[in-house]
Amino acid sequence: MVFVEIETVVPVAVSLPSTSAAAIKGMPGPTLAAPHAAHPFYDGSENAASKALVANALAQRIQNINIDKCEAGGEDAFFVADLGEVYRQHLRWKLNLPRIEPFYAVKCNPDLQVLRLLANLGCGFDCASKKEMETALSMGISPNRIIYAHPCKTASFIRYASKEGVEHMTFDNAEELYKCQRYFPSARLLLRIATDDSKALCRLSVKYGAPLDSTAGLLQLAKELGLNVVGVSFHVGSGTYDPTAYVAAVQDARRVFDEGAELGFEMKLLDVGGGYGHNNFEAIASVLGPAVDQYFPSNVRVIAEPGRYYVASAFTVAAHVIARRTVQDPVTLENSFMLYLNDGVYGNFSGVMFDHQTPVPKVLTCGDRFLYGKKGVDERLVKYSIWGPTCDGLDCISSSSFLPEVVSVGDWLYFAEMGAYSKCSATKFNGFPDDHEVIYVCSEPGAAALLEG
Ligand SMILES: Cc1ncc(COP(=O)(O)O)c(C=O)c1O
Repeated sequence: MVFVEIETVVPVAVSLPSTSAAAIKGMPGPTLAAPHAAHPFYDGSENAASKALVANALAQRIQNINIDKCEAGGEDAFFVADLGEVYRQHLRWKLNLPRIEPFYAVKCNPDLQVLRLLANLGCGFDCASKKEMETALSMGISPNRIIYAHPCKTASFIRYASKEGVEHMTFDNAEELYKCQRYFPSARLLLRIATDDSKALCRLSVKYGAPLDSTAGLLQLAKELGLNVVGVSFHVGSGTYDPTAYVAAVQDARRVFDEGAELGFEMKLLDVGGGYGHNNFEAIASVLGPAVDQYFPSNVRVIAEPGRYYVASAFTVAAHVIARRTVQDPVTLENSFMLYLNDGVYGNFSGVMFDHQTPVPKVLTCGDRFLYGKKGVDERLVKYSIWGPTCDGLDCISSSSFLPEVVSVGDWLYFAEMGAYSKCSATKFNGFPDDHEVIYVCSEPGAAALLEG
């Protein structure tokens, strides 16, 4: 296939297998954006160099697929990841929350290149299982840069953490304290407290976090068991849209620090969790940073566990249109259309089920036209529902999307902002793959240099 319309032609993207830790070489990119008064590294606009690299990688990959001759699955969905975007998010973090050390939440997207870059940038890692700890440790990340942030841990995983020297871990109930005493009595424990997460898309405090009326009792028990409580952690909920939830949680954490001090615990670590997003980050930082400074002296170390903040915007997924149906409304006689893709909610769109995501389809190719990033199309738009490939009626990516009427079998759609809670929760249901290729590009020379090492 040769496209007649490619919006932007840019330097060649370098493709790495997703499981490889190989270096990224030969990826020229722009210099960092010109300083901006408030946020030198992020001004809210789309990064043109990034878009151009992603466009080129998508175009090259699709041009190499011969739909009539490829192996079965040769037209599988695939990702393009711009690691420069992860790098920019890190600089944006450092600029806005300089006191708070990010410990990336591995669960959100355990992509090895993302982990490598963040490790080289000096991030710590929030791991929730033996496998996540093992992955981080196997990359040479020191155990003291890992927090086992799970308040209800598997006993054998606690033993693993003990063997590997991953000392920091969270708890929120009495039974967990008995387990820690049995399997890792010298662990450095953080008491995770419940928060008001009523204004978050994914509520976590329904499952984890000690209510504030239980914290004094838990600390007393920890004391009796001879355990070492070094701090407090919280999570205001993933996809929060209420920055003041962080302030309330910081105030609650202060109270628990004071309870700990009364019992003789020397608490010096505050973990302000995750929940940060691309669109709310500055709003959160503008209240969280000052709250932390107001309630905690500078000798208290402050860490966070951002997940989606780092990766959501870095990944784009492209999926192939495998089928199309026309449906006529029996009353109005109006037609609507169903598009079936080779990726769905049992695959990389798992966030529709588990993360309240509402992916926005855009046309990548239509016939021999390449339409990435094209703002408006001339054709008449009609209503589609977009479906995944499995037999399940639940496998619906979008119940209503307006796309050109001419989109048809053999075309490609793309979805931006697909880096968080997507590939990591994909399944193999119906025999479809869960290991889709990731093509890496890098729009920041600084990030490319770090990955070359
Ligand atoms: C303990 C913990 N930390 C961090 C995160 C990451 O949250 P987010 O992706 O909203 O930043 C999660 C997400 O579920 C979590 O459970």
